[in-house]
Amino acid sequence: MKTLIVANWKCNPTTLSEAKRIFDLVKKGVDKIENKKKVEVVVCPPFVYLSSFKFQVSSFKLGAQDVFWENPPAGGGAFTGEISAKMLKNLGCGYVIIGHSERRKYFKETDETINKKLKAALENGLKAILCIDKKSQIKNALKGIAKKQFKNLILAYEPVFAIGTGKPCSIEKARKMNFLIRKAVKINIKILYGGSVNSQNAADFIKKAKFHGLLVGGASLKPKEFVKIVKTM
Ligand code: PGA
Repeated sequence: MKTLIVANWKCNPTTLSEAKRIFDLVKKGVDKIENKKKVEVVVCPPFVYLSSFKFQVSSFKLGAQDVFWENPPAGGGAFTGEISAKMLKNLGCGYVIIGHSERRKYFKETDETINKKLKAALENGLKAILCIDKKSQIKNALKGIAKKQFKNLILAYEPVFAIGTGKPCSIEKARKMNFLIRKAVKINIKILYGGSVNSQNAADFIKKAKFHGLLVGGASLKPKEFVKIVKTM
């Protein structure tokens, strides 16, 4: 299994020129790394920058930070403000983050809407990264999803207290949660860790806590730091 390193830029940066600057530096840095066959890097910028990066991805993949659950033209596409899974796929996205705790908190996303988003993403051939904070969120989010679709499903354990706080989860607790989540899903899928990951702690979450990859927020906007994280893999 390849180690998966996902950059979640969240609602940053403010301008396209800054987005291009970060993207170019990350691309240069990642391209230079030797022996990167065992690592897959995914960059998830805000929707508005995706098309600018479409033809520039070489050693890494593009991802989105959210997706709508309907598949227009069903419903006539009358869903103002939404972005469908087909649109993302046609734009060259391979991945999508779903159910991030910030979306649950600020946009009142529920297990039910997250479940619908997961289905839309998987049905349209996107790899879906389902973020969870508690083991209990898994069952409802995966309701009705066929086992054969699990091959494109990735879980990300992101304890809320660790997100954007500079206080990562302890390796011991993360390792335990990884084990419990694995037991709960009963199938061999990738499980990532996210929450205050940096170049100092990244390797421990993989080597000691045995995750298959990382979801990186703040540190992914600092190209040098992000490339360092990829290098430690
Ligand atoms: P952080 O964010 O690395 O800034 O803590 C991680 C995330 O929210 O995915």
